Amino acid sequence: MDKFVKNFIGASIFYLVLSAVLGTLMLAYPQLMNLKFVHSHLNMLGWVSMMIYGVGYHILPRFVGKKLKSNLLGEIQFYLANAGLVGMLVFYSAAQYNPEPVYKTLTVVSGIAEAVSVVIFFYNMIATLYAEDAA
Ligand code: HEM
Ligand code: HEM
Repeated sequence: MDKFVKNFIGASIFYLVLSAVLGTLMLAYPQLMNLKFVHSHLNMLGWVSMMIYGVGYHILPRFVGKKLKSNLLGEIQFYLANAGLVGMLVFYSAAQYNPEPVYKTLTVVSGIAEAVSVVIFFYNMIATLYAEDAA
């Protein structure tokens, strides 16, 4: 298993732990409900998407008997997806407690990084699954 694949799975499970802690705190302290977006995206982009990236990178090329188009792009996607997610959630949280517009801007920039990482995954997977068979 490639290192970035293992890292996606490790990161995914780590985000699940964080989201479970935050979700439980939201139950105990309803004033934290303003962080629902943080909880839901720790889960949806962290736990769920990163588990799918990890398992998908490992198994989908094997389903079609091909090699992943680019391991380098997979690695870049790992760093971009994590930086984007952490940035988006940290700056979103900061913006909840501080009206400085810079936090909102940084949240959006991080969201764009996250979206770019999704596009990289899309390209790498499609280029792998639909690659011409070697003659
Ligand atoms: C210990 C585990 C968890 C706890 C304590 C927890 C707790 C919560 C709480 C308190 C809310 C806010 C509900 C409200 O708006 O009234 C919430 C929302 C949400 N949770 Fe969790 N959660 C947990 C695990 C998960 C997992 C594993 C996922 C996804 C795989 C998930 C996805 C979501 C989503 C998407 C929302 C937003 C739903 C909406 O906007 O209506 N949660 N959770
Ligand atoms: C670049 C990636 C993404 C961005 C920038 C993004 C952004 C957002 C925003 C701005 C909201 C509205 C939050 C609010 O009402 O305050 C939202 C809600 C939601 N998103 Fe995403 N999202 C992304 C990816 C995803 C993915 C991949 C999933 C599912 C796999 C997802 C599931 C949800 C759900 C369930 C909600 C409603 C729960 C909530 O309000 O927190 N999102 N998202």
